[in-house]
Amino acid sequence: MVPGRVSQAPLVVVSNRLPFILARGLDGRLERRQSAGGLVTAVAPVVIECKGTWVGWPGTYEMRPGEAIPESDAGDQAPTAGLKSSQVVAVNVAKDKFDAYYNGCCNGTFWPLFHSMPDRAVFKADTWNAYCEVNEEFAQNTLAALRATVAKLDAEGRVNVAPIVWVHDYQLLVAAASIRKAAEEEGLRFRLGFFLHIPFPSWDIMRLFPWDDQILQGMLACDVVGFHIEDYCLNFIDCCCRRLGCRVDRNQMMVELAGRTVHVKALPIGIPFERFVELAESAPKVLKTTEEKTILGVDRLDYTKGLVNRILAFELLLEKHPEHIEKVTLLQISVPSRTDVREYRQLKEEMDQLIGRVNGRFSRANWSPIRYIYGCVSQNQLAAFYRDSAVALVTPLRDGMNLVAKEYVACQIREPGVLILSPFAGAGGSMHEALVVNPYELDQVAETIHRALSMPLDERELRMTQLRRRERKNDVSRWLESFLDAMDGVNDETSLVGNL
Ligand code: G6P
Repeated sequence: MVPGRVSQAPLVVVSNRLPFILARGLDGRLERRQSAGGLVTAVAPVVIECKGTWVGWPGTYEMRPGEAIPESDAGDQAPTAGLKSSQVVAVNVAKDKFDAYYNGCCNGTFWPLFHSMPDRAVFKADTWNAYCEVNEEFAQNTLAALRATVAKLDAEGRVNVAPIVWVHDYQLLVAAASIRKAAEEEGLRFRLGFFLHIPFPSWDIMRLFPWDDQILQGMLACDVVGFHIEDYCLNFIDCCCRRLGCRVDRNQMMVELAGRTVHVKALPIGIPFERFVELAESAPKVLKTTEEKTILGVDRLDYTKGLVNRILAFELLLEKHPEHIEKVTLLQISVPSRTDVREYRQLKEEMDQLIGRVNGRFSRANWSPIRYIYGCVSQNQLAAFYRDSAVALVTPLRDGMNLVAKEYVACQIREPGVLILSPFAGAGGSMHEALVVNPYELDQVAETIHRALSMPLDERELRMTQLRRRERKNDVSRWLESFLDAMDGVNDETSLVGNL
């Protein structure tokens, strides 16, 4: 997958969730349950190939001390199937502490703050302390994995190979600081990288967080800090400059802290494009075989996704263009998410009411404007929805990248549909042939849906061909390769000092 290089440097991946969930089966034994994300699909094979390690939370509080992680079942087709239990480190955290860390700080503070919605963010010293403690537990588990990795390399005589530790996302913003400190004190060789999967906010927003300096220092403990797009990189560099007084180079995207140079990189993530094409080719039809067109929305049920605005805009479409009544349906799939957090439960209520109202207002005997699935759908079903929908509505208020937009275009293997995309998603910066709409401007969204539904075939083809070409090229393997390239560059002599 990533030729040559992966066999040289083992990878230690650190993420809040392991690439599979552990759950207790009927016989009382732990078993692996798969998660289907693109990140796992891309990264797990590399961890397997380079004999690396994955450190993360197993998704259960039920693991007993010392209890072994089960091997995968025979016949397991998941990308993690070859990941041996010896390559997995489960970080077990007591329920109360995990709750304060995950529901409290990660999703009650950082999620809204980093999505520039500070009014929804809760700032509390106790949840922040729990966050730091849990990050420390992740760091200690990672250090154990790093020690074992270095010892193994030494035993093999590969004394010049420095393992790559790769920390992921907003749940682990400060873990790298402890990892670097201890690893340096112990004389372990390592390279340390971080990737943020959500937006990085501007200084005006970041400074609202009372312990912002610790966040920045935690991230700067890495050699490479990656974001989806350049805007997030520049926000981060700006924060480092203004909050910590770091010397920075915005052109070369470098930050200096205590004599060390940190490389900041825009590394836009892609999807496993061909996997979605294959799914779309084999998935049976699930939508009705009538003349009715489907407009599709697929999201975790999250207030950042602009779901309420989307439903209101669709209502406006039916009001202003009644010719679509009985001709068009909005199929909204909302995947339950973070249901222990109040904001998410409130959104669920709001959506239920709103959709009920719109359906009550416009439904006919044999037609309803909105079909609403609150739940998960299989990958096969999803691919069929993507393939057979005339329009995809991807209208987040703010979103790190948004992979639904990319999955939709990958699955457009038959008569092409139209992608409607918010400029406030990272994907908005590169998917130029989508119809771009401001999700706050409901009239414009309604008119854009109308335009998409009436767009001639040749224009749809032109736009979709270009969108698909770009996403096929910039798939998730390419993202992974770019990250590893950036890590390889760490040993170069590039230093900020020479560039100022
Ligand atoms: C976003 C985050 C991920 C997170 C995912 C699902 O994509 O960037 O880190 O895993 O949402 O959220 P959850 O809270 O269920 O892990």
